[in-house]
Amino acid sequence: MQAETVQAFRRRFDGEPKVVVRAPGRINLMGDHTDYNQGFVLPMAINRSVWIAARPIPQHHIDVYAADYNETACISLIDFSRKESSWKSYIQGVAWAAHERGMEMPGWQGVVLSDLPIGAGLSSSAALETAVLSVDLVMAGIHMDPKEMAKIGQYAENRWVGMKCGIMDQLASCCGQKDHVLFIDCQSMEIQAVKMPTEIDVVIIDTRIKRELASSAYNVRREACRSAAEKCGVDSLRDMDVKRLDQCARSLDSLLRKRARHVVTENERTLEMVNALRDYNVEQIKSLMAASHASLRHDFEVSCDELDHVVSCAENIQGCFGARMTGAGFGGCAVALVHRGTVDRLTQELLACSRQQSFPIPEMYVCRAEQGAEIVLHRGAV
Ligand code: GLA
Repeated sequence: MQAETVQAFRRRFDGEPKVVVRAPGRINLMGDHTDYNQGFVLPMAINRSVWIAARPIPQHHIDVYAADYNETACISLIDFSRKESSWKSYIQGVAWAAHERGMEMPGWQGVVLSDLPIGAGLSSSAALETAVLSVDLVMAGIHMDPKEMAKIGQYAENRWVGMKCGIMDQLASCCGQKDHVLFIDCQSMEIQAVKMPTEIDVVIIDTRIKRELASSAYNVRREACRSAAEKCGVDSLRDMDVKRLDQCARSLDSLLRKRARHVVTENERTLEMVNALRDYNVEQIKSLMAASHASLRHDFEVSCDELDHVVSCAENIQGCFGARMTGAGFGGCAVALVHRGTVDRLTQELLACSRQQSFPIPEMYVCRAEQGAEIVLHRGAV
């Protein structure tokens, strides 16, 4: 991809880029809809990324070509009066967030290319934010802690784009570690890298379903969690366990009870999953993934028929150590863990199983845990 991105830059701008960056997408193995409740998550950055090749320009704007869309944008670094939409809003949001922090970013021109499916629930937006910020920082000669970078990306998405996401996706994209999943405490932002057992291959199953209203449904879930925490007298659902939830059950209507139960039990499952991976306890991994999917489906109600179907197909294939939806839900991807060497069987049998329904045929990718965002090329002083 690096060579392709450089090529695309040469074609577009008739010259050489000074900087090439890569920022990965992510999958999450356990802990969905827990990050904005100050809870635990277990994502891994994957070997599919958003790439940008760029060089500085003397103007105060970003002149960018998105090769995947065959579209261009010119985004001011000082005037934010006209709001961009779609992919452009993420770039503008990062520029705005940096501006808000008083950071003066120099202008640049660049090409964005991606081998990460866009809008499939693999955090293409967080990857784009992280990649743009990485270019901004190199151009400005600023070194920033990856966790700080993640906060800027989240701020841009929360305040500019209007998606009230938690911090998981940006942290995974900024702080990912090769061959490891990240066990993150979203309250303290402490990260522990947990080695992925070498016997396990991770398969992404993309249902190819995209829900138009996913972002507003997401914000509604977030609000429900906040309201449940308030009614139970805690700062966030992170401060509850099942016993405490039972005690305040009467203060909650049945919907809030279900939403809170998902978060509380999902936090517990995430802690257990860390141990199950460390011990390579495949039975436990499988049952935790099944319980998590059921909870996201019935209590949090963010799954959909297509996700439920691929998960139930995958679970029943020999060599599969468990499957669940991953990320926000409302379509998007599931993740399956399989015994190394059985990926071909999983993909074939899963395709056969999928055909039993009239849903779109899912796409599958085997992925690896990859390093977080990196500057892969930096030619001299910019
Ligand atoms: C989206 C958000 C994350 C997280 C997940 C669900 O990916 O961006 O912050 O809340 O959904 O776990």
